[in-house]
Amino acid sequence: MSKVVVLYQSKYGATQKYAQWLAAELACDLVETKKANIDQIATYDVIILGGGVYASGIRGFSFLKRHFSRLKKKKLAVFAVGAFPYDEKMIDAFRAQKFKGELVNIPLYYFRGAWNEDKMTGLDRRLCGMLKKMVAKKDPTTYEPWEAVLMEVDGNCDWTEKEALKPLID
Ligand SMILES: Cc1cc2nc3c(=O)[nH]c(=O)nc-3n(C[C@H](O)[C@H](O)[C@H](O)COP(=O)(O)O)c2cc1C
Repeated sequence: MSKVVVLYQSKYGATQKYAQWLAAELACDLVETKKANIDQIATYDVIILGGGVYASGIRGFSFLKRHFSRLKKKKLAVFAVGAFPYDEKMIDAFRAQKFKGELVNIPLYYFRGAWNEDKMTGLDRRLCGMLKKMVAKKDPTTYEPWEAVLMEVDGNCDWTEKEALKPLID
């Protein structure tokens, strides 16, 4: 039997929710990436790393990059959790930008998370407000899909759904 672990890093809880669903479904261990110890993680055969998307980066992804020499023989997968709707072109661009060199063959999954203005830190709320102001200057007919969502969301939204995990579980 393969030994499986789900590593996750979540700021507002959406990635944690997916990671918990996944660990329950696979009956495997669940570890927060920032508390992970590479000696312990290297004992697993299958490592699934999930992180929230912030300014186009995946939280906790650096753990994989930093320790890739010790993990490259394992079965690896990454899932990113962002606010924006699934868009093939955006995911491809994301993959091309983040999964370079030795990382190129790691499968990437994208799941839609949540938008919690009530929970956001003051700094995050200000950053999102600035971004909205910038996008608002554009002609709405030219919005990228993520820009359209940014302008639509008002307050709190939760798009998390357990079924989205099916391709990764399969
Ligand atoms: C400051 C900030 C930046 C964000 N940047 C992105 C982004 O670049 N792309 C995206 O899809 N979502 C972005 N989001 C939305 C988060 O990815 C989304 O809320 C996700 O559910 C967070 O996961 P977590 O709750 O596990 O941290 C951003 C949110 C904040 C507060």
